[in-house]
Amino acid sequence: MSTAALLDLIRSRKAVVGIVGQGYVGLPLALVFNEAGFPVIGLDLDSKKVEALNRGESYIKHIGADRVANAVKTGRLRASSDFDELKTCDAVLICVPTPLGQHREPDLSYVLDSTKAVAKRLHKGQLVVLESTTYPGTTDEDCLPILEATGLKTPDDFLLAFSPEREDPGNPDFHTKTIPKVVGGVNDTSTDAAVALYSAAIDTVVRVSSARVAESSKLLENIFRSINIALVNELKMTFDRMGIDIWEVIEAAKTKPFGFKPFYPGPGLGGHCIPLDPFYLSWKAAEYGIWTRFIELAGEINTHMPHYVVDKTVKALNAAGKSINGAKVLVLGLSYKEDIDDDRESPSYEIIELLQEAGAKVEYCDPYFPKARHGRKHKLEMSSIPCTADAFAGYDAVVLSTGHKQFRAPSLYAKVGLVVDTRNAVKLPAGSTTTLVKA
Ligand SMILES: NC(=O)c1ccc[n+]([C@@H]2O[C@H](COP(=O)([O-])OP(=O)(O)OC[C@H]3O[C@@H](n4cnc5c(N)ncnc54)[C@H](O)[C@@H]3O)[C@@H](O)[C@H]2O)c1
Repeated sequence: MSTAALLDLIRSRKAVVGIVGQGYVGLPLALVFNEAGFPVIGLDLDSKKVEALNRGESYIKHIGADRVANAVKTGRLRASSDFDELKTCDAVLICVPTPLGQHREPDLSYVLDSTKAVAKRLHKGQLVVLESTTYPGTTDEDCLPILEATGLKTPDDFLLAFSPEREDPGNPDFHTKTIPKVVGGVNDTSTDAAVALYSAAIDTVVRVSSARVAESSKLLENIFRSINIALVNELKMTFDRMGIDIWEVIEAAKTKPFGFKPFYPGPGLGGHCIPLDPFYLSWKAAEYGIWTRFIELAGEINTHMPHYVVDKTVKALNAAGKSINGAKVLVLGLSYKEDIDDDRESPSYEIIELLQEAGAKVEYCDPYFPKARHGRKHKLEMSSIPCTADAFAGYDAVVLSTGHKQFRAPSLYAKVGLVVDTRNAVKLPAGSTTTLVKA
C-alpha cells in the first residue's frame, strides 16, 4: 500500500487502527479512534483486560463503563492478545509501560518487545507510532533499526513517528480528544501520515519537526512538574519551621495574574509519569556528558517527602506523649492522587512501610482499593477498613496521604485524637479538640 492509499483510508475512516497496550493511555485512545469512526483493535498481553473489553466493560474507574459498552456495540472496537491481528492494521500505536529498572535506568523492554512484535507483521504502507514516554532518540535509534531489520525501509515502505500521550486522569475538563497532541515523525512523510491520522480523531494536532522534538516536549512537561512540585515541597518544609502555612502562601501568590502558576506540596510523587520520566532524560544526558542537576535535585527532595511525613507523625505522637513504636496508625488513601483508582508509585505505600519499620501498627482506608495491590516494589497484605467515623476511632494517629472526596467530611474525624494532613484536605468538626498537623 502506498502512503497516498493510507491517507485515503484515513480520510474515509477505513484505516484499521491497532493499539498495543490497553492501559490508562491505550484504552482512552482506542475509544477516541472508535468514536471518530475508525475500526480499532486493542492488543494487550493481559487476557483479563482483553476479555473485559470484549464484554464491553471498563477496568479503569474514570473511564465510564457506558463509553466502553457503546464502543464495543458499534462492532468497530474489539480487543485481542493475538498479535497476528497487527497484519490487518493500517496504523499501529504503541502505548506500553516505560518503567525504571532497579538502578533508576530506563527499562525499554516493553517498548522493544512491542516493536519486535510489530516488526514481525510489518507491511508496506503501515504507519507505526510510539506513544510511550521515553528519552529523545528512542524512536530513531531503538525502534527504527528493529523495523528496518525486516528489509522494509522508511519512508518508502513504512512510516514511523512519536506522539506523546497527555492524560490527566480524573480531570473532568480535559479528555483525550480535546487535549492537543504533539506529533513528530522520523521523516516528513511519516509526520504527514501521523498528523493526518490524529487529526481525524483529535481536535488539535501540533506538528513538530522530528520524533526527537516530540519525545523531548513530553519530558519537558513532566520535568517542569517534577521540579515545581519539589520547589513547593522544599518551601513547605522551610515555611513550616517558620510557623507559616504553605497552603495559605500559595493561595495568596496565585492571585498574581501573570508569571505564576500554582503547584501544591504533598507526601511525595506518584503515578506512572512524574516520578519516573525525568530520569529517562538524566540517563540519556549522561551519554552526552551532561549532568542534569535540576532533575536530580527535584528527585532527591520529592523522594524524601514520605520520610518527612513520617517524621512529622512521630513528632506529633511524641507531643501527645505517645511513641510511634506500638502506636496504631491509620493511613488514608493508596491512590497517588485524589478520586482515581491508580496507585502506581504512590507514596502511601512507602509511608505505610516506614511507619511499620518504626514499630507502628498500620492499617489503611481507601474506597478505591478494598485490598492493597501488589506492585513492583511493595507487596502489602492489607485490606481497607471502612470509611466511617466509628472505624477511624481508636487510632493514635490518622495520616491523610490522598485527598479523596470521601475523606473530606469533618464528621469522619469526630473521634480521632491526631490527624496528620499532607494535602490540606481535612476539615475538623466545629469545636473539635482533635490535633491537626499539616505535613
Ligand atoms: N497513565 C498516564 O496518565 C500516562 C500519561 C501520559 C503518558 N503515559 C505513558 O504512556 C505509557 C503507557 O502508560 P499506561 O499508564 O497506559 O500504562 P498501563 O500499565 O496502564 O498500560 C500498559 C498496558 O500495556 C500492556 N502491555 C505491556 N507489554 C505489552 C506488550 N509487549 N504487548 C502488548 N501489551 C503490553 C500491559 O498489559 C498494560 O495493559 C507509558 O510510557 C507512560 O509513561 C502515561
